[in-house]
Amino acid sequence: MTIRIITRKKLIALLIAMLTAGGWAWASGAPPNRGAAEIILEGGTSGKVAFPHQRHQEKLTDCNICHAAFPQKTGIIEELKTQGKLAKKQIMNEQCTKCHKEKKQAGEKAGPTTCTTCHVKP
Ligand code: HEC
Ligand code: HEC
Ligand code: HEC
Repeated sequence: MTIRIITRKKLIALLIAMLTAGGWAWASGAPPNRGAAEIILEGGTSGKVAFPHQRHQEKLTDCNICHAAFPQKTGIIEELKTQGKLAKKQIMNEQCTKCHKEKKQAGEKAGPTTCTTCHVKP
């Protein structure tokens, strides 16, 4: 008897969960995966780089400003560098530092532009 009640409760909970998830997908598409809010990137011999992902998403809004050059996948920058599809420091030079310098020159709020404000020595 007790077992039956638990099973039914579980079944109802499961049904509700399925309906809610299905409702999401049906009404508005599944919620997009925005990735981690804070990401630590590899920075070779200069040391790791802390990257506030969510803050950039809020500030820049267009995901493709960055993701046109690499897919939305954890560790993909290092993966593409290993495969020779991205040069070492390419993202650093063509995205991070380039944009920060441009913003700074325009008198807008920007991110760091010197080596040791991005890289933390191991
Ligand atoms: C300023 C650059 C930049 C912008 C803008 C940006 N991302 Fe990312 N995103 C990154 C970097 C860097 C990584 C980490 C790649 C790696 O680990 O090699 C990443 C990783 C991801 C991942 C993989 C999961 C993870 O946490 O590593 C997802 C999913 C993702 N981004 C989604 C998005 C979405 C959705 C948007 C737009 C709303 C967006 N990103 C905007 C730079 C950016
Ligand atoms: C705005 C942040 C930022 C600044 C400023 C910056 N870097 Fe980087 N650096 C990164 C990121 C992110 C990566 C990893 C992605 C890549 O290789 O493009 C990286 C990668 C590297 C690598 C590893 C390349 C490899 O794959 O072996 C070295 C070495 C490096 N940076 C040195 C420097 C030096 C020297 C300076 C100063 C002249 C500097 N960085 C300034 C963010 C930065
Ligand atoms: C297209 C422009 C753009 C690109 C590309 C970009 N940033 Fe930024 N970044 C900004 C702006 C704008 C800010 C200032 C954000 C604010 O006002 O909150 C910023 C701020 C930062 C900060 C400082 C956050 C703080 O706490 O003050 C760091 C660290 C940073 N960026 C790292 C990176 C790294 C690493 C990359 C490359 C993977 C990168 N950014 C790529 C525009 C960019």
